[in-house]
Amino acid sequence: GLPERVTIYEVGPRDGLQNEKTVVPVADKAEFVGRLAEAGLETIETTSFVHPKWVPQLADAEELLAALPGPAASPRPVLVPNERGLDRALAHGVTEIAVFGSATESFARRNLNRTIEESLAMFAPVVERARAEGLWVRAYVSMACGDPWEGEVPIEQVVSVAGRMMDMGCSQLSLGDTIGVGTPGQVTALIEAMVEAGIGADRLAVHFHDTYGQALANTLAALRAGVTVVDASAGGIGGCPYAESATGNLATEDLVWMLHGLGIETGVDLDRLAETSRWMAGRLGRPSPSRVVQALNPK
Ligand code: HMG
Ligand code: MG
Repeated sequence: GLPERVTIYEVGPRDGLQNEKTVVPVADKAEFVGRLAEAGLETIETTSFVHPKWVPQLADAEELLAALPGPAASPRPVLVPNERGLDRALAHGVTEIAVFGSATESFARRNLNRTIEESLAMFAPVVERARAEGLWVRAYVSMACGDPWEGEVPIEQVVSVAGRMMDMGCSQLSLGDTIGVGTPGQVTALIEAMVEAGIGADRLAVHFHDTYGQALANTLAALRAGVTVVDASAGGIGGCPYAESATGNLATEDLVWMLHGLGIETGVDLDRLAETSRWMAGRLGRPSPSRVVQALNPK
């Protein structure tokens, strides 16, 4: 069966904007987050407390949080890779964080400058301290469906890293198809393996990039396997149009169109959301890649 309601975990301000060539001014980012909330998105991953040289697009994390109106009424998680990032997040009153691991050595090295083992050692004190401070912690596992340098990624490898991160005390695990190569059969098998390893579907989220146009089909497979939290980015922003291995996430509008068509509640006002994505596309200087945003464009 399918769920009655799905929680959309909006990653546009973080995963979307981290990959755009244009660095969006902080005031526009704050307006983006505000408009997404007004469109009914309850969980919005806002920014990253990573090294500013590694992701210059999000170097204004402090300023952005300060520019957001008042304390967030609903979750506004941020990415935190290490204790330095946690210190920065705590200094700004963050209450939800996400640590982000990799199922492959190649991506752990490139994304975190660490082996898998070293990256887990980096996360452990972050999760422990965050939990002690009462924070909610999400864990990502990237390259869950394939890796641009290593090719196929054995399911056991994904399950192993996921298990280690959940054992640290994370509350939710997001399976990241970072390069969008996964297909629905693979997604079903991956989720079944997670459940078998003791990470129930109620603690899972899925994070699909739409590089190969499989994100919606993969999402449907995940919903059928019991997942009810789905990551998406407004307007499908993110990714480099010239790199074969990275495009934007599943567009939130495409996801909402499918879910509402299935009679599944999201709380999202689709027209308002699409309007926000068209506005952001103007800021980014390129049209939204979302099919639904294009289709709903008023003539
Ligand atoms: P490193 O160079 O190994 O860092 O980078 P280090 O620990 O050796 O520290 C070097 C210096 O950086 C030190 O300063 C630290 O204080 C400073 P110094 O003492 O030399 O003056 N530093 C920091 N400064 C500010 N904030 C920090 C921080 N950390 C260290 N947090 C590091 C290691 C993890 C920091 C780096 O690799 C990094 O920032 N990586 C983040 C990369 C990233 O954000 N990638 C994108 C997000 S992941 C993703 O998109 C996938 C996802 O969407 C899911 C999917 O699609 O699969 C989540
Ligand atoms: Mg991603």
